[in-house]
Amino acid sequence: MAGPIGLILGSGAGKLGLQIEARSPAKTPYGEPSSPVLRLKIGGRSVLAIARHGESNNIPPHAVNYRANTWVLREHGVSQCIAVNAVGIITVGTFEPGGLAVPDQLIDYTWGREHTFDDGSRGALRHVELTEPFDAVLRGRLAAVAAESAAAEGRGVYGVTQGPRLETAAEIERMARDGCTMVGMTAMPEAALARELGLRYAICAVGVNHAAGRGPGGRDIHAQLDRYVADGMAKALTVLELLIPELQATAEM
Ligand code: HPA
Repeated sequence: MAGPIGLILGSGAGKLGLQIEARSPAKTPYGEPSSPVLRLKIGGRSVLAIARHGESNNIPPHAVNYRANTWVLREHGVSQCIAVNAVGIITVGTFEPGGLAVPDQLIDYTWGREHTFDDGSRGALRHVELTEPFDAVLRGRLAAVAAESAAAEGRGVYGVTQGPRLETAAEIERMARDGCTMVGMTAMPEAALARELGLRYAICAVGVNHAAGRGPGGRDIHAQLDRYVADGMAKALTVLELLIPELQATAEM
């Protein structure tokens, strides 16, 4: 399992103040990724990252080239990939805005996205297995480090909406009935594409607001984002700083 650790960084990652050591512009058979492949130093180690919404944060969730983003990381030798995704919290009390969760399940409500590499051009069709949408070992290690260093919630069901608009209160109510505990716009098709490519993939979700109609500050979501994104991203960085050296040490064994 050698090779660099890959990161797919979401909105709010600009607040991490990460130093970019190198930028490699890249093309793939599926078009251009959201950003050049960025070499960053985290926890004293070099990692390869994609800025999911572009370096100027201008690519909306439905227009992200998820195929190119995952493909280019694998082309650069990445076998383990941690995604950082901002989410709204549906189940109040599981974790707080400004806090973290490591989901163990997904429900996909998106539509019209390029969601597979199996487009008929690659020979026999493969129905990729996604019962457990995250790599069990990577997810487990991420959850353990995040629980210890940032009191993160160790599981949860991430419902993926189309965006870029936020949800109605009734949509969130329906998602809660479906079993979703958090809501974001980017985990799918990213997780499924990672699985198609054989990339080990797990998500560090950063709670940045209570979802529409939920929690004490439920109405003014933008005020919550302003207040909580920086705190949550700082916690995510602490987790990455601890986890990346650990992952690299075992990858080299
Ligand atoms: N809904 C969908 N996506 C999100 C939210 C939300 O409330 N917060 C951050 N990403």
